[in-house]
Amino acid sequence: MPRRSSKLSDRSNRHDRAYRQAKTDGYAGRAIYKLQEIDQKYRLLRRGSRVLDLGCWPGSWMQYTVTRIGDEGYLLGIDLKEVEITLPPNVETIVGDVDDWEPPQDSPFDVVLSDMAPHTTGDRHTDQFRSEELVRRALAIAQRALRPGGHFVAKIFQGGEFPAILRELRGVFQEGRAYHAKNTRSSSIEQYLIGRGLKTRVTE
Ligand SMILES: C[S@@+](CC[C@H](N)C(=O)[O-])C[C@H]1O[C@@H](n2cnc3c(N)ncnc32)[C@H](O)[C@@H]1O
Repeated sequence: MPRRSSKLSDRSNRHDRAYRQAKTDGYAGRAIYKLQEIDQKYRLLRRGSRVLDLGCWPGSWMQYTVTRIGDEGYLLGIDLKEVEITLPPNVETIVGDVDDWEPPQDSPFDVVLSDMAPHTTGDRHTDQFRSEELVRRALAIAQRALRPGGHFVAKIFQGGEFPAILRELRGVFQEGRAYHAKNTRSSSIEQYLIGRGLKTRVTE
């Protein structure tokens, strides 16, 4: 009997329309269309913005972000894997684990993005649990890295902790919501959390 494919796995959908489109458009991955969709709806990225991208490899969100922030902006990406695409000089990348990284206290960001995803095991509950842990980590970083009024986007595989995390998001931002990107398969449990207007920056 054929093994049922996990809804979390992109493997069987690798050659879907967005994937082929990204290849044609010269983007590092199809995730770019999700950020584009979210940004067009919620207007998060602006010319001159300082942006932190957690889980930035292979770099398609960075490719989109630089078109929005322009030369005056600044983009810092961090990932376990090294980004190999060529990016403009106002972009820096760090190879590392966000668990071992502290944001700089002196120069806050306007937007924190997190497309971080765990290495999927195929076990839905494990993958959801790990994704929720990553989102909590991203939210903790955002509270320290963002200026008051700053914005946040984070991918989450919706599991049992989802309502609690949404409540936490709403406690931290003036406006917090979940968004199911159109560029995501309707069966997918992948959602994006959107936080607009950080209430208070956490400092030492
Ligand atoms: C779906 S990919 C991001 C795609 C990216 N937004 C793009 O558009 O190219 C998820 C990334 O999260 C990274 N990641 C997962 N856990 C991480 C961690 N603890 N620290 C840093 N990066 C992590 C993975 O290495 C992976 O490259």
